[in-house]
Amino acid sequence: MSHKLLIANWKMNHVDLDCVRFMEEFIPKFSAKREAWIAPQALHFNLVRSMGEMKGIRVGVQNVSENSFGAFTGETSAKSLRAMGGHFAIVGHSERRQFFGETSKICALKIRTCLREGLAAVYCVGETLAQREAKLTLAVISDQLLQGLNDIISPTVDKLIIAYEPVWAIGTGKTATPAQAQEVHAFIRSVLKERFPGLGEHIKILYGGSVKPDNVEELLSQKDIDGGLVGGASLKAQDFLALCGDK
Ligand code: PGA
Repeated sequence: MSHKLLIANWKMNHVDLDCVRFMEEFIPKFSAKREAWIAPQALHFNLVRSMGEMKGIRVGVQNVSENSFGAFTGETSAKSLRAMGGHFAIVGHSERRQFFGETSKICALKIRTCLREGLAAVYCVGETLAQREAKLTLAVISDQLLQGLNDIISPTVDKLIIAYEPVWAIGTGKTATPAQAQEVHAFIRSVLKERFPGLGEHIKILYGGSVKPDNVEELLSQKDIDGGLVGGASLKAQDFLALCGDK
């Protein structure tokens, strides 16, 4: 059985000293029972990477440009990130979709760039509350998956990760029940198996949306939940240690 993977998405929260304090507290207690990846602000990438290196903690970014280099003011390059030892980029987080107009078509370009440059892409999908109430969840997820993965022919299994993040559960304290999450994860698994025969069953599918120390074990015990993408509960070292199985 492969290790469960927990990814910390720190969003635009920590300043550099907070990152240092977090790593000083986290590193000595982290046992690598589960895999831990961290996405700090791009500004703090190298600081966190150098502190996490000895424990095999992979570091990435919360967003990446679809272009590898050139005249794109303010963007983060997958090529440069890879050259500095970056491991992954989150693509299509709902906050990017909501506040920055990112569509699944744009995500497709970003995923393709990540794979070409050797980064893992963590592709986020998820329905809004209105879509869930209108019973559109599976249709929305299917559409986001097929559009976002449109250009991808044969990813290697360690370079493509899907994160199911119901928009109504992000930062709200409302978690999908393990059964609700498992239902969507099983559906995502079936789409991946059809899209990438022989490979789809091995692609990691993470759950995100108010994952906390007190609900993580039940979520991770579901058959198709391979880990978590965590915002709020990843900001404190003690909480993230608990999510990683190191109480
Ligand atoms: P949350 O955020 O854990 O604070 O709900 C999850 C995410 O945005 O990835």
